[in-house]
Amino acid sequence: MEALRNAWYVAAWPDEIARGALLGRTILNEPILMYRKRDGSAVAIGGRCPHRFAPLHLGRHMGDTIRCGYHGLEFGADGRCTLNPHGNGVMPENATVPTYPLVERHAMVWIWMGSEHADESLIPDEFAFVADPGRVHIRGMLHVEAHYQLLVDNLMDLSHGLYLHAGTLATDQMQENFVPKARLDGDVVRCDREQPGIEPPALWVPALPPGTERVDYYSNLSWHAPSNVIHPVGCRMLGKPEGVDGGVGSRSAHMFTPETETTSHYFYSNSRDYGLDSQETDDRIRATLERVFGNEDRPMIEAQHKMIGNVDLDSLHPVVLPSDRATVLVRRRLAQLIKRENARTGREQVGEDALSVR
Ligand code: FES
Ligand SMILES: [Fe+2]
Repeated sequence: MEALRNAWYVAAWPDEIARGALLGRTILNEPILMYRKRDGSAVAIGGRCPHRFAPLHLGRHMGDTIRCGYHGLEFGADGRCTLNPHGNGVMPENATVPTYPLVERHAMVWIWMGSEHADESLIPDEFAFVADPGRVHIRGMLHVEAHYQLLVDNLMDLSHGLYLHAGTLATDQMQENFVPKARLDGDVVRCDREQPGIEPPALWVPALPPGTERVDYYSNLSWHAPSNVIHPVGCRMLGKPEGVDGGVGSRSAHMFTPETETTSHYFYSNSRDYGLDSQETDDRIRATLERVFGNEDRPMIEAQHKMIGNVDLDSLHPVVLPSDRATVLVRRRLAQLIKRENARTGREQVGEDALSVR
């Protein structure tokens, strides 16, 4: 599929790869099996047995190796067959599965799908807050029947919040001074929105000091290639820096990992540094996230994907609004990165402009 391959994608939350468990997941059209070795380290190998192509996650965890659940071939973390229980036990040369670099960092499991060197320094340090023990984290994941780029678009253009999330996430106060500013900063696309002196949006009122009438609201996005976004959002007390005198905010991370051309894995983590011991706040945030992403964003994006079909968005000549600036910058940058990667790796260019808007 047309996507950046030599890049880190989030493959799982660490606790999804429990000891002794076999986690099967398709990423960039490739079946992957993730499991933990006896020393606790997580590994990823091809998820399809090379014999009769049974899914290896339906097999058995044998410690450092796994056994195919169909006819018993065993494979190690290096992808090689370690045991053939049939005939003279010779391991056929092609009895191997691919292997993938897998790294646990910032409380996430990252996978590298390309053939170039898996440079761990490319995992952005900006995501370290997801593992910050001084914050409370509410995590989740969704499976979405839509192209991953539509999910990135959704987040990078939060003007949709005023309509799609009216009454849940957004309120009328948030229309005031709504001017997002998008720019390219190296390989990162940033989109900042400052709304000084507005009435506190309803969602934040329970966390603010009682009687707060006006706040400086902020909602800033940063996209890190290929498809990971950080979103600090909240209320500062008028003229004060973040977190001072009762100002509250959250910082969330959104990781979109392509499953196929038409489906995606959506990992999200919302974190806060206020109300740390409040179960009531945890429950309220969890319910809001599930409702907003699962019941509002997901159905709209899936329906949008169906409307577009499997064609390049650009070929439909979309209307471009000022609020699309960040999504245009992201698509343009990603298309450049893919083009460069194709030139480097000699991969055939399929649909050169498939991901560009302009
Ligand atoms: S399909 Fe795996 S051993 Fe036969
Ligand atoms: Fe949304």
